[in-house]
Amino acid sequence: MDKTTERLKPDSAGIARAVDLLRAGGLVAFPTETVYGLGADARQGRAVAAIFAAKGRPRFNPLIAHVADLETARRYGRFGADALALADAFWPGPLTLVVPLRPDAGISDLVAAGLSTIGLRVPRGRVAQKMLRAFDGPVAGPSANPSGRISPTRADHVFDDLSGRIDAVIDGGAAEVGVESTIIGCFDHPRLLRPGGLPAEAAEAALGRPLAHAAPAGSPNAPGQLASHYAPRAPLRLDASGALSGEVLLGFGAGAQDAALNLSPAGDLTEAAANLFEYLRRADASGATGIAVSPIPETGIGRAINDRLRRAAAPRPQPGR
Ligand code: TXA
Ligand code: MG
Repeated sequence: MDKTTERLKPDSAGIARAVDLLRAGGLVAFPTETVYGLGADARQGRAVAAIFAAKGRPRFNPLIAHVADLETARRYGRFGADALALADAFWPGPLTLVVPLRPDAGISDLVAAGLSTIGLRVPRGRVAQKMLRAFDGPVAGPSANPSGRISPTRADHVFDDLSGRIDAVIDGGAAEVGVESTIIGCFDHPRLLRPGGLPAEAAEAALGRPLAHAAPAGSPNAPGQLASHYAPRAPLRLDASGALSGEVLLGFGAGAQDAALNLSPAGDLTEAAANLFEYLRRADASGATGIAVSPIPETGIGRAINDRLRRAAAPRPQPGR
């Protein structure tokens, strides 16, 4: 099972090596502006299956296919007026659109996990764009973390979690946005399936009407929305005004001056999102018995931060997994 995981530079030689590995059916973690993805050629069933194995991910959870631009995305999914409006406004960027799948487009059945829809994303990260253009095909890519754990925002996070299980990691430095893409379903009424790096308010402004909300957890259209997700090992206590004995405080804003880790002393939600997963890892590594988290405003990208924190705090089926 163990192989040597190569660390690739984000230059032409590194990208060329990544493309060779992808073409050969390998697994390559790559930076995007949201988080690092674990990429495989979306047309090769065995390569896609290897993603699930490396992550220990349940088979029923579908994967996002990454492409370089809207034109390529339209080969794999059907874009109605709403999907086109959103793609025009926000691609490339931290937005995934779930649209009806074109069944004969050559994407492995494992990517959509048997659904009749597909999640498509055009990332704006420079390295991701270069890789997708050079590869010239769809790259299936969940976040590059073991299933249920915190998403990686740096190459070292991927090495910590998946070294020996994947072929390579392109090291593109720290992710700019820091939380995963916003997912909007465009197969009936536009629906927010996961808050993320693109504020839902911005999507609603582009559509000219409000988004519907995700179907309840466990329903077929939102299979990834497991209650416990993005979990550090230590338990989380949300909306905390300070740390209790044994806890480390993950603060936000000027009020949390004595916090060991402050997501944004200035109270800037964009900065807090960029720091979130790295600071959760640091809090975990500190050996604290628990992580207390300051209240975070439920607005803009703050909705994505709170969503990830609530999932991290949810009861877990398998502690420590
Ligand atoms: O920012 C991101 O979105 C990152 C980067 C790497 O692109 N990717 C990411 O992938 O977060 P992942 O697999 O960790 O989360 C994608 C979510 C999953 O919860 C999955 O269930 C959902 O998208 N999803 C994918 N295809 C879907 C579909 N056809 N219908 C409904 N949900 C879908
Ligand atoms: Mg994930």
